Amino acid sequence: MARETHPSVWVVVPAAGRGVRAGSGVPKQYRLLLGRPVIEHTLRTLATHPQVRGVAVVLAADDDRWPGWDMLEGKPVLAVTGGAERADSVLAGLNALPQDLEDDAFVLVHDAARPCVSHRDIDALLDAASPRGAVLAVPLADTLKRADDDNLVRDTVPRDGLWRALTPQMFQRAALMRALRDARDAGVVVTDESMAMERAGIAPVLVAGSADNLKITTPRDFALAEFLLRAANKDSA
Ligand code: CTP
Ligand code: MG
Repeated sequence: MARETHPSVWVVVPAAGRGVRAGSGVPKQYRLLLGRPVIEHTLRTLATHPQVRGVAVVLAADDDRWPGWDMLEGKPVLAVTGGAERADSVLAGLNALPQDLEDDAFVLVHDAARPCVSHRDIDALLDAASPRGAVLAVPLADTLKRADDDNLVRDTVPRDGLWRALTPQMFQRAALMRALRDARDAGVVVTDESMAMERAGIAPVLVAGSADNLKITTPRDFALAEFLLRAANKDSA
């Protein structure tokens, strides 16, 4: 349901990775789930959200699988070339957003490899819009062990206050670009947007999201994602 109080946002979708851990010849964002590429599920779910204005998808320089969409579900799709690290790709996507987008406009960054994101997750994130930014996350469930080089348990790490950070993550456009550039210039590889903002002294808020919003990473994740998508389709039918 559209909520008028929500900001409307552009979404940057990094999809320029090689998917090494997922194996197979085809990069994971182009493997099929229920007959459609992973990236198509991701982009359609984003584009059908009422508060999403458009999507900037970031592709590898040698990507010859991109279907060339410039519109999906009635929303503009911009395609740009990414870089060596995920953060380079995100910066390229942010650079490609419309020139007239305000400095303080909220933007989302969402991994192409997370096709099971739901509108409910996006709503929860948008509800938390503030200058400090917001990150979908899930509290850790398992007991954590720190191991030595021989996989022998050294100790148990207290779980209190530990979360797994997911995407989308939401920040104001100019502040995020500044933080990502500063990290890059300092030679620090940030693995998510929050990490770049944290370096800048900002404490983004964690928003509890669904653990179903998994990042397809290893071969077994494809069957799991397909199961979750099928269940989600049933729910909305
Ligand atoms: N990504 C990107 N540019 C890069 C690296 C990653 O746009 N240089 C994207 C991936 O396409 C993916 C998301 O960032 O949608 C999350 O990265 P990850 O899950 O690590 O994907 P890959 O880097 O492709 O996988 P792997 O690390 O196993 O090679
Ligand atoms: Mg990677």
